[in-house]
Amino acid sequence: LQSGLGTSHAKIILIGEHAVVYGYPAIALPLPSVQIQATIRTAKVDQTIHSRYYDGPIQGAIAELSGIRRLIQHLLLHFDAVDQAFDLTIKSQLPAERGMGSSAATAIAIIRCLFDFFKKPLTHQLLLQWANFSEHIIHGNPSGLDAATASAQTPIWFVKAQVPQELKLNVPGFLVIADSGIKGKTGEAVRLVAQHVRDMPNHYRPKLAALGTITTKVKIALAKADIEDLGQLLTAAQTNLQALGVSSNQLDKLCQVALANQALGAKLTGGGQGGCMIAVTKTAAQAQRLSNALQTAGATQTWIQPLSEIHTL
Ligand code: MEV
Repeated sequence: LQSGLGTSHAKIILIGEHAVVYGYPAIALPLPSVQIQATIRTAKVDQTIHSRYYDGPIQGAIAELSGIRRLIQHLLLHFDAVDQAFDLTIKSQLPAERGMGSSAATAIAIIRCLFDFFKKPLTHQLLLQWANFSEHIIHGNPSGLDAATASAQTPIWFVKAQVPQELKLNVPGFLVIADSGIKGKTGEAVRLVAQHVRDMPNHYRPKLAALGTITTKVKIALAKADIEDLGQLLTAAQTNLQALGVSSNQLDKLCQVALANQALGAKLTGGGQGGCMIAVTKTAAQAQRLSNALQTAGATQTWIQPLSEIHTL
């Protein structure tokens, strides 16, 4: 045993977050330009993690890494190598807790890395099983969408407990992604929605159903390459996500700035309450202007992604 390597990438939920936990469909896109990489090497004595947030022995890993620690420990148990000494390095371009799937992507990269290290074959199904194991530790009741997208090569149509379907995006538009700069806590947002649905089902269930209908309409808009329809549907989804209580003042503000700057539509993406928002524009020049306007309005980072170029390398 010498070394191992595993990679993954960010994801963006185009439409359907939260409702997907309740069995409604969602559409998510891999973001191949935003990468994460895990490498492992045999070490002499200790089990050590090197990452942006933590550098040290695995036992002492900070709370934010406890999910990763448990994932690695379970994998070592699986490989009958609990005492294997190693140096594991995680290099990530993904901002953590921003709704870009950092936790699932980290898990996917680590799982691939350890299977590579132990020279064991890894099927896609096994990869997803391990990734969802780790997602359960991190946020309680995941739909499986993040893990599915972090391991997908194409945009996907996803329904909980079903095999994701590949989607083709021949839409001639641009996606602008903006980080609100505020941490989003997916687990807390998912629990808040669950509490709302429990306390006032007649009020909240229709909002989830409306998101499900919007997602189906987005699939049709994508098939017709109708970017205007797509934009309006994204904005309609944001209204429902706000009503579920998972938006935030900063996300609402960025969505308004987007609409005031020629975006065809805008919404939060991912767990919400912080994290990122997305907007769509018709042209590259509009996307660039919008990206600048969002930064002026307080976005800490922005990305521009042509919708027709979403596929991994
Ligand atoms: C988080 O990226 C997406 C949510 O729908 C939760 C999930 O699907 O597990 C909010």
